[in-house]
Amino acid sequence: MNDAGVPGLKEAAWKAVGVPRAHESAALHVLGQATYTDDIPEVQGTLHGALGLSSKPHARIVATDFSRVAAAAGVVNVFAASDIPGLNDCGPIIHDDPIFADGVVMYVGQPMFIVVATTHDQARRAARLADIVYEDLPAILTPQAAKAAQSYVLPPMRLTRGDYRQAYEAAPHFVKGELYVGGQEQFYLEGQIAYAVPQEDKGMLVLCSTQHPSEMQHVVAHALGVHSHNIVVECRRMGGGFGGKESQSALWCAAAAIAAAKLKRPVKLRADRDDDMLVTGKRHCFHYEYEVGYAADGRILAAKVDMVTRAGYSADLSGPVATRAVCHFDNTYYLSDVDIRAACGKTNTQSNTAFRGFGGPQGAIAIEYVIDDIARKLGRDPLDIRRLNFYGKEGEGRNVTPYGQVVVDNVIDALAAELEASSDYRARREAITAFNRASPVLKKGLALTPVKFGIAFNVTHLNQAGALVHVYVDGSILVNHGGTEMGQGINTKVMQVVAHELGVDMANVRATATDTSKVANTSATAASTGADLNGKAAQDAARQIRNRLAAYAVKLYGGDIEAVCFAADTVFVNGRQVRFPELVQKAYLARVQLWSDGFYATPGLHWDPKTMSGNPFSYFAYGAAVSEVVVDTLTGESKLLRADVLYDAGRSLNPAIDIGQVEGAFIQGMGWLTTEELWWNSAGKLMTHAPSTYKIPAVSDCPQDFRVKLYDNANVADNIHRSKAVGEPPLLLAFSVFFAIRDAVSAVGDHKVNPPLNAPATCEEILKSIAAVEGAIGGAA
Ligand code: MTE
Ligand code: HPA
Ligand code: MOS
Repeated sequence: MNDAGVPGLKEAAWKAVGVPRAHESAALHVLGQATYTDDIPEVQGTLHGALGLSSKPHARIVATDFSRVAAAAGVVNVFAASDIPGLNDCGPIIHDDPIFADGVVMYVGQPMFIVVATTHDQARRAARLADIVYEDLPAILTPQAAKAAQSYVLPPMRLTRGDYRQAYEAAPHFVKGELYVGGQEQFYLEGQIAYAVPQEDKGMLVLCSTQHPSEMQHVVAHALGVHSHNIVVECRRMGGGFGGKESQSALWCAAAAIAAAKLKRPVKLRADRDDDMLVTGKRHCFHYEYEVGYAADGRILAAKVDMVTRAGYSADLSGPVATRAVCHFDNTYYLSDVDIRAACGKTNTQSNTAFRGFGGPQGAIAIEYVIDDIARKLGRDPLDIRRLNFYGKEGEGRNVTPYGQVVVDNVIDALAAELEASSDYRARREAITAFNRASPVLKKGLALTPVKFGIAFNVTHLNQAGALVHVYVDGSILVNHGGTEMGQGINTKVMQVVAHELGVDMANVRATATDTSKVANTSATAASTGADLNGKAAQDAARQIRNRLAAYAVKLYGGDIEAVCFAADTVFVNGRQVRFPELVQKAYLARVQLWSDGFYATPGLHWDPKTMSGNPFSYFAYGAAVSEVVVDTLTGESKLLRADVLYDAGRSLNPAIDIGQVEGAFIQGMGWLTTEELWWNSAGKLMTHAPSTYKIPAVSDCPQDFRVKLYDNANVADNIHRSKAVGEPPLLLAFSVFFAIRDAVSAVGDHKVNPPLNAPATCEEILKSIAAVEGAIGGAA
């Protein structure tokens, strides 16, 4: 027992969770001493790979000639599909994803072969020398075109509740429209990389920047045609993943491992930025058609949305992404009668994948757009229409999601009210109205948007985790778990949990690289569940050790086992105080097991994909943000002036890390909705494949006035120490930036017309929107 503390002992002396702690690697990060995959010292004889990429969006491969590649300086060998010893597949769910194109290419940038050379530079130069004869096939490049051609990677999905048609026809008012929301490149600072080092017998060690070591292990085993126990995948940390390394690190692992196995030499495959962006999938762009009926007061009575995504050439994770989009169309709103459809358009582009929010942002932004429409039609502040439609409390009936999960932890009313007050929303609204009246060129806009985000993998069986905790004889502690560190601070949080359980200072705990030979069959660190799942698993392991130590302490010193307390590096037992390392040493000599495994499976989850109903989420995380922007109506430039954010991290495990996560997610979401534009030319080539043409937010884009706070709210679910996940949900808070821009544009027409505004709201898109508003006003006059 430790939470109760010991009389006279200050909370700070025993509390390791719920306190701000620096990231476990903070010092190493700033000193440049944190080891990323490319920093691991290379084994003698290491070779370097580069991928040869398709230059056609869709074509039959008529002939390939690698003789110029093979003859290039430093080249050791070239391997293509026919050289793969096992399966030519790296698809995470559906096996439609070749490692190397076989017979046909399906997008510009598709890997066709790996060339291995003495140096990285030699491999890259040689990769361009292949002579390929293609026979062009028709290519589909947009989700709308895919829909028109009924070209899908999996059957379209649909979720209905109530009677949409009847409710729509009975509704006195309606809005109808279309919206396009672009995709987003993950833009992790560390690109994709895998380093495969052959081991004795059939063994292969793969050091890889990945969110999903177990899946990398499986993919490599299949590609090499060996059992999983021959493959070890290890990842100490990533320089960011953001979903881009959930499934799509597989190609790099498999290609490096195939070459290493063939050559019996270590092979490193590191993507440069352009190749990374050309080869890998991104956030799905969405096109929506919506039709919503509402009452005179703005309450939604019937909602229909038809979404089509750009899945790319293969399924990858598009199915679960679309499912999450469907399950987040409601956002914080009760929608009685709905018809929600989503289809994954098969296009001749990169296979789109996980990106922070995983379809949730794309689902929820549509209903926010609708509410924004309704408010303007009614001449009301959108905040009032939002509030009117919020989920209700238990007993009011308005607390069941369209997929049937009862919302038992709703705090959005109180949270939004707190933010409305603390951000001075109403007074600023008035000030902005006055400003706009006096300012013909610069227009300001303001928006408060809420979020409700479901926490758990929407594929039930993935909600499990394992951990190992070792207590060494000197009292120091090592923890290993199935989660991966991508900068989000999972190791810090897990170390805190273990320290808390054993009553020691966090400095006594060390976390080691994620390793498939330590904890088996792990899930991806994704769906924001990393700390939830692995924290619980590590707690389970640490608790078992503590219980054994407590039993042993009672055997030595007597007293009640329930009253033994572990705190402040000390064990309090029957009126005595024993230093933790001292008890550990004694326990070792008495042959007490000082290490343990731990396991956790989230309870209460079920999901029926056929009816799209069940309890897919363990709980919901909530938040809201207010953004104020200024738009230059002559240039289309916009600037975020101030943002106020309130996020429900439950009983935060580590408020310092959580605030960092909220800030990062918000700014990343702002980039998605404002400046980050993916653009493919008519030949299907992604032209925005480097930071020169793809604009992520810079420090100068962050608001000068940025007020981020956590909303204290113990999790209703028995999550680790009653905390809540924080990784993804705050990304949706950047909706407030987008709708503040739309508000500013709408000021051009005195808020009389709904500005059509697609995302990202680039300067060009804003100018188009202003022109549409001016056209509509002029036409009406
Ligand atoms: N934070 C950093 N610094 N880097 C990342 O790559 N990925 C995000 C989020 N925060 C990411 C991040 C995504 S997409 C997810 S799902 C979660 O972290 C995963 O980690 P967690 O479940 O441990 O929060
Ligand atoms: N998030 C991330 N990855 C996933 C999910 C999810 O909800 N479901 C299946 N894989
Ligand atoms: Mo996060 S998109 O679930 O990796």
